[in-house]
Amino acid sequence: MSFGHSRNVPARPRSWHRALRWFAICAIPAALAALFLSCVGWLSPRLGARRIVNAFEATTAPHPGFRRNHAKGICVTGHFDSNGEGALRSRASVFARGRYPVVGRLSIPGGDPGEDDAAGMVRSLALRITLPHAEQWRLAMNSAPVFPVRTPEALLEQLQADARDPRTGRRDPAKMRAFLDAHPEARAFRRFIEQHPPSSGYDNATYYGVSAFQTIDAHGIRRFVRWEVVPEKPYRAVYAGDLRDPDFLFYDLSKSLRKGPLRWHLILNVALPGDTTDDSTRQWVSSPHRPRIDVGTLVIDSAQTQIDGPCRDIAFDPTVLPDGIAPSADPLLAARSAAYAVSLQRRLSEEAAARARAH
Ligand code: HEM
Repeated sequence: MSFGHSRNVPARPRSWHRALRWFAICAIPAALAALFLSCVGWLSPRLGARRIVNAFEATTAPHPGFRRNHAKGICVTGHFDSNGEGALRSRASVFARGRYPVVGRLSIPGGDPGEDDAAGMVRSLALRITLPHAEQWRLAMNSAPVFPVRTPEALLEQLQADARDPRTGRRDPAKMRAFLDAHPEARAFRRFIEQHPPSSGYDNATYYGVSAFQTIDAHGIRRFVRWEVVPEKPYRAVYAGDLRDPDFLFYDLSKSLRKGPLRWHLILNVALPGDTTDDSTRQWVSSPHRPRIDVGTLVIDSAQTQIDGPCRDIAFDPTVLPDGIAPSADPLLAARSAAYAVSLQRRLSEEAAARARAH
């Protein structure tokens, strides 16, 4: 009697053969399905971006052709006069002494381009600084030094809590309360807003980059920094008289520009040991030991409508950086880059369709 396989009896598949067969039956179709889903965008990072941009859209009525957030704004132009003080910290060309052209945009958050300026508790400034050798530095900053949430997932939850019911057009305050209970990190932003009334204009607000970034010097040494853009014009809180005009921010800006250019200083705050570098909900403590470097002056000398001005087709993606500046691990940065691209793609295609209809 042989315990070996007879020639006539087929051999039983060995266990690794069985595993291979199961792999062929289950894993390969699963991988193909995943490939398909990622091709249609369901598993890619752009999924998150699309869902977030959809959630921004759900907070307001549709406004085709406009930015999905910060929809109300004005283009501005001018230049950045770099004083050379940043060159020790970073090899970026923007810190070499010189003058670099700027296209910018001043805005208030929210998806409605017709929003009453009185509703804006935050002012915002976006910049594109054009540098030698086809480099650019794009910045998008708010007049609050912290962001309400730490991650894109939490932002999605916040936007969903803020969404309007499509039938009634109303928000549900209970949803926002539940969101705030679940996200104590949002308190720092709320506290700042409660304690700092918005400025009377765009020209006397300080704008903060919020996220940390890295500067890289000529020897490759990296340091974390957070930047802010500080106005020469002193801060004055908005008062009731200003608020009577729903476009007071725009008119105030045009009035100021008629008197002459507006100036801000770009300040680099350097991280101290122990500072958090990946959490936009936490401010760095003010310390006499923290280096605060004034690296140059932003000069804005004219404003244009956002409908056909030079800022219209720009996505002020904060990850567009010159060599010598790099992002931190703050999870908001990659999410912003993807969401700004989705918003830009939607608004440009809507605008092209509207133009085609008009002809
Ligand atoms: C994950 C977090 C964030 C998401 C998903 C997000 C999303 C967006 C979107 C979709 C736009 C419209 C972009 C366009 O159509 O060009 C926008 C604009 C803007 N965002 Fe954010 N944002 C985030 C965080 C922030 C933070 C932390 C700041 C401030 C530091 C900021 C400042 C701005 C500014 C200033 C604009 C207007 C830019 C312009 O004038 O074109 N955002 N944001």
